Amino acid sequence: MQKGKKRSWAEPFKIKMVEPLKMTTREYRQKCAEEAGYNTFLLKSADVYIDLLTDSGTSAMSDRQWAGIMLGDEAYAGSRNFYNLEDAVRKFYSYKYIVPTHQGRGAEHILSTIMIKKDDYVPGNMYFTTTRLHQELAGGHFIDVIIDEAHDPNSEHPFKGNVDFDKLEDLRKKVGADKIPYVCIATCVNMAGGQPISMANLKKLREWSKEHNVPIIHDATRVAENAYFIKVREDEYKDKSIAEIVYEICSLTDGCTMSAKKDPMVNIGGFLAVNDKEIFDKARNMVVIYEGLHTYGGMAGRDMEALAIGIEESVQYDHIRARVGQVEYLGQKLLDEGIPIVMPTGGHAVFLNAREFLPHIDQDQFPAQALAAEIYIESGVRSMERGNVSKGRNPETGENYRPALELVRLTLPRRVYTQAHMDVTAEGIIDVYEKRENIKGLKFVYEPEYLRFFQARFEKIG
Ligand code: F0G
Repeated sequence: MQKGKKRSWAEPFKIKMVEPLKMTTREYRQKCAEEAGYNTFLLKSADVYIDLLTDSGTSAMSDRQWAGIMLGDEAYAGSRNFYNLEDAVRKFYSYKYIVPTHQGRGAEHILSTIMIKKDDYVPGNMYFTTTRLHQELAGGHFIDVIIDEAHDPNSEHPFKGNVDFDKLEDLRKKVGADKIPYVCIATCVNMAGGQPISMANLKKLREWSKEHNVPIIHDATRVAENAYFIKVREDEYKDKSIAEIVYEICSLTDGCTMSAKKDPMVNIGGFLAVNDKEIFDKARNMVVIYEGLHTYGGMAGRDMEALAIGIEESVQYDHIRARVGQVEYLGQKLLDEGIPIVMPTGGHAVFLNAREFLPHIDQDQFPAQALAAEIYIESGVRSMERGNVSKGRNPETGENYRPALELVRLTLPRRVYTQAHMDVTAEGIIDVYEKRENIKGLKFVYEPEYLRFFQARFEKIG
């Protein structure tokens, strides 16, 4: 190789099985979008060409994971796959005790119910939809303590997932540490654009947590992606393996909730893991009411086996570099055409900045929702709104929250699509951008009470 000449890298896998995709016409997709009330959650998967709705449960399992499926021990109690999963959690994530759940929100429900008392305050590095709802249903109030840069799509801060200690201290001084059951810390913060927290910030939080005797609960859903950013952006970690960094992150916290449908690449599954025996005993007792016996918690034995293998695969450097690299590739293609996206690109998705994309649509007419629908109609690519619809209404005033971030998320499943799919996606969005002035806002025709973004229906204004 000539000195200084760039060598490309490709997906670190080859394809053993394929799932054909259906191509449709614009007229057909227009009809599908209307029938779905302009909500991409209500489209049929068969009518979607490239599905970037979510990276949750949509990743491709490896041949080893599929082999693990055949080793499912479907005993009601004491399945050997549970013990393999327990070993993997201890080895890679450091936590002592694990309670399996059907997915992430199952773990959030149990943890929130056990740890939160009425009128407690739960600080976190930005909300996540289901996490905040479970905190509120348990009687708590969520308080956002992420740094201001996280709310600014154009800030290029390398660790937009960091905690702002002034905000955290303000809360502690106002309500007292005994009203704070735990600090809720997500790695690679989803709603901020898949943005990481730094190890330095987490270490500082550990000091704070010890000083005030407030535990840290980690939303570990995308911890491997966060570890990759630490490796490439925090100098003292450049020679550490992803596995070592993941282990260190987890060791700085007291427990985790995990949606295993993301980083560990299974179609269904999750768990709660803690180091405190008392919390574990309560959780193990509660899981039998809501999920299943404590050695399966809503998962089949085969799913626990695939998960144990997926945890190990998620911390492989070649895998995670290609995963985050694909997100960066798509982001760069859009940037090259001047399309406004959240900077820097995150770990699991490219987020379009719908405020800047559609400045003529007021936030209460849901620009991100309208943009996601338009991208589907134009290109068959399915994305997701992450803005005013997702954030919901302030329960006190009944007004929409109108968050600073009004985004459309193009979420990449792991190991599913190739670079050519990214090219086609970018071209479709560029076409929408050229016609952006014609896009109209939306109004609700049906608004569900909880997590409204999943099932809401809209019609076009004007
Ligand atoms: N925490 C984070 C950070 C998540 O992204 C999710 C799910 C959950 C918790 C809940 O886990 O779905 O297994 O019950 N996020 C999906 C998404 C739905 O598309 O971002 P779950």
